[in-house]
Amino acid sequence: MRFHGGNERAKIDFSVNLNPIGPPPRAYEIATNCLKGGVLERYPDYNYRNLKRAISEFYKFDGASLVPTAGGGEAINLAIFAFKPRRIAIVEPSYGEYEDLARALGIEYSPIFYRRDSKGFYLELSDLESTCKREDALIVITNPNNPLGLYVDRRRIYESLSRCEAKVMVDEAYRELCNRCYIEIDRDLPENFIVVRSISKWLSLPGLRIGFLYARDGELVEKIEAIRQPWNIGGLSECIVSSLLSMEREMRDFIEESRMYIAREREKLERGLRSLGIKTYESAVNFILAESPYMKNIVFELEREGIAVRKCTSFKGLGEEYVRIGIRKSWENEKLLESLERAMKH
Ligand SMILES: Cc1ncc(COP(=O)(O)O)c(C=O)c1O
Repeated sequence: MRFHGGNERAKIDFSVNLNPIGPPPRAYEIATNCLKGGVLERYPDYNYRNLKRAISEFYKFDGASLVPTAGGGEAINLAIFAFKPRRIAIVEPSYGEYEDLARALGIEYSPIFYRRDSKGFYLELSDLESTCKREDALIVITNPNNPLGLYVDRRRIYESLSRCEAKVMVDEAYRELCNRCYIEIDRDLPENFIVVRSISKWLSLPGLRIGFLYARDGELVEKIEAIRQPWNIGGLSECIVSSLLSMEREMRDFIEESRMYIAREREKLERGLRSLGIKTYESAVNFILAESPYMKNIVFELEREGIAVRKCTSFKGLGEEYVRIGIRKSWENEKLLESLERAMKH
């Protein structure tokens, strides 16, 4: 069974990883204009020319090797369907969809774990050496990682894996919300790499379902174009996202503002959690991995107050001592700390 964050019964839901500042101010006005323009009454352009142009101009790369997708989620599926690897090596713990898909398609699943030391988790790229030599393998790295929040310098990954026979899929769904990350697609992305991005996530409009996939391997991109359904993105989503991305200055400021808000609130939450004796792991993004031997009880007490956090029992290598906490609005984060203080007394 699929397992994701999101708890409809919670009064405040910290189990989802959204941009806490909410959608860009003009999103709803743009949506209204798109609706008035009749986008629901016609099929979208199945070549998505406007959307491709808007994405490639915003992210500063060549649109020929770009496939717009229904969220980062569809990009993951399409890359795996098109490449048809015999083995998928996933750097774990990580987002669960890759493994679920590998198992459903009968592809060999091979976990490779982040290592740990007293400071936290880290990626030892030499652990990927044997998979790197297999041309029928796909290595999957979520960077920044969900649920760890860890960001590994992309240059280190390129240097170590660009000469691999294997393909490498880097899922960068959280890149725009990561204060240490560079947003643009690299011109020197290695030939064997596939990049997955989410756009609706940083826009805080996840219901729009827009992301994209980029690879320099033209043959693979052609295959993906052939297997995606012709109108994989709805006309309303296409219109809203094309318009927003073409307001480049405003959207870059929006990303910057989101990053600053997240960093400030994350520090505040980390400090609060640590002062309650809860261990936190260094995060570059809009969520924190937290650990306590009493976590099961803490989660139970939080739920009694209508507060949800993401239990981590479905993540490889983590257990019931861990939860992932999404950064929310300042007043909500303060409320969480107050509830945690009460929960710790039980
Ligand atoms: C690592 C990772 N990749 C992809 C996705 C899917 O993103 P989208 O909403 O753009 O499909 C998620 C969603 O939470 C995620 O955590």
